Amino acid sequence: MTDQNLAVIVLAAGQGTRMKSARPKILHTLAGIPIVGHVLATARELDPAHIVVVVRHERDAVAAAIIELLPEAVIVDQDDIPGTGRAVEVGIGALPSNFAGDIVVVSGDVPLLDAGTLSGLLDAHRAAEGAATVLSAVFDDASGYGRIVRSAEGSFDRIVEQKDATAAELRIAEINSGTYVFRSEALRTQLPAVGSHNSQGEKYLTDVIGLLRTTGSEVIAVPVSESWIVGGINDRVQLADAARRLNAMIVRGWQLAGVTVHDPDTTWIDLAATIGEDVELLPGTMVLGPTVIERGAIIGPDTSLDACEVGAGATVRRSDATLAVIGAGASVGPFAYLRPGTYLGENGKIGTFVETKNSKIGAGSKVPHLSYIGDTTIGEHTNIGAGAITANYDDLAKHPTTIGSHVHSGSHNVFVAPVRIGDGAKTGAGTVVRKDVPAGALAITVAPQRNMTGWVEANRSGTESAKAAAASESTDEA
Ligand code: UD1
Ligand code: MG
Repeated sequence: MTDQNLAVIVLAAGQGTRMKSARPKILHTLAGIPIVGHVLATARELDPAHIVVVVRHERDAVAAAIIELLPEAVIVDQDDIPGTGRAVEVGIGALPSNFAGDIVVVSGDVPLLDAGTLSGLLDAHRAAEGAATVLSAVFDDASGYGRIVRSAEGSFDRIVEQKDATAAELRIAEINSGTYVFRSEALRTQLPAVGSHNSQGEKYLTDVIGLLRTTGSEVIAVPVSESWIVGGINDRVQLADAARRLNAMIVRGWQLAGVTVHDPDTTWIDLAATIGEDVELLPGTMVLGPTVIERGAIIGPDTSLDACEVGAGATVRRSDATLAVIGAGASVGPFAYLRPGTYLGENGKIGTFVETKNSKIGAGSKVPHLSYIGDTTIGEHTNIGAGAITANYDDLAKHPTTIGSHVHSGSHNVFVAPVRIGDGAKTGAGTVVRKDVPAGALAITVAPQRNMTGWVEANRSGTESAKAAAASESTDEA
């Protein structure tokens, strides 16, 4: 049920210079979802009455992504005044003026922070009845972070930023994770009083904590259970570390749900994927986007499925497929390339070195070897010979090929689209099918073969070929 006394403010206005990317930092993805999408999903799990996202840097791209990820989020623009304190102040401006509940503040670049940790923080905050609660963490290397300064008795005193810290304060291992719960009136009264007289000339949110303390309000710091939970993403090394950690959790979840994962370290599963019991994932498999794999299918090794559906008991070996549907019991690969719009029916086959695109291959039909099948419809129980090419593009437009059921095409055929092959028809090896083939017909276009006897001796006398031919003739005569 929605917590009417809760609002979440997501800080997402900062720059991500260390990523060195044309893409805004928080739109880089982990497990198929932008960094900020993980934060928004966690915020939504708390079911607050309001979610506000503060944006500025790369505003349009970031705002567009947020609207897509969480339409109910309220997007608000930070002005020219820099700093986390200003960001929260602007965020509060987007809340109803009579909102008097608790405000959770999170950073848009901390994707692994989970709703369980946040609701634990909220519970601790509400139990302590303080003005603010800080989520802290103990890091081996605290550099870059604000440090939690505690009194001799161990109670929370204040937060000092790295750039403003003394040598003694820099040795503190407990850091401010940048995640907090505030009573809204504490922020409303103290934020206007925060200045920017610090080394960065910014309005620090952390100064609110100091002000609250001097006015005698209760502030507590609660350490997180494991420090990686609050790890921010600033560069691509941290992005890869977080992605690996998240993937390990996702893989483990599917293992516990009955999926055999032979090598968790080389198996990558996006959050949107769904995998049935007794599916086997072999090393080097990527299950991307909203891919669905039904019970008992075997995927891999070295296979990538992006937004695919794979039916029960199908096998996909060493292949790459995007937006493809693979029927139950069907077989794909090794070395197949299934492009968008491929539909392979039950027990069908797309074999080795076969590329397909926008094509429906009916139940029990097979394209086993060395082929390109595009813009094509194939009926049921048809066998396409090795080396078939659908010539679907005539330099101006794409055209369809329609092949019926129980058709057997010979090796090395070209189907020059648009063209139709009727049910039960056959084609000879090497046929270039330019005209429709009626049901039950045999189509052949190859010219009769001519053997020009003695051509090699007449034109290539003395070569190895000529000697081999001569030797073979003398044995033939013997
Ligand atoms: C902040 C904390 C520091 C803490 C660290 C944890 C302050 C003053 N310091 O430092 O104590 O250890 O986070 O990672 O808050 N942002 C805005 N608008 C701004 C500036 C930042 O929205 O004007 C956003 C950023 O996009 C980011 C978050 O606020 O999501 C934190 O900002 P960042 O610049 O990374 O703060 P730090 O200096 O790392
Ligand atoms: Mg930071």
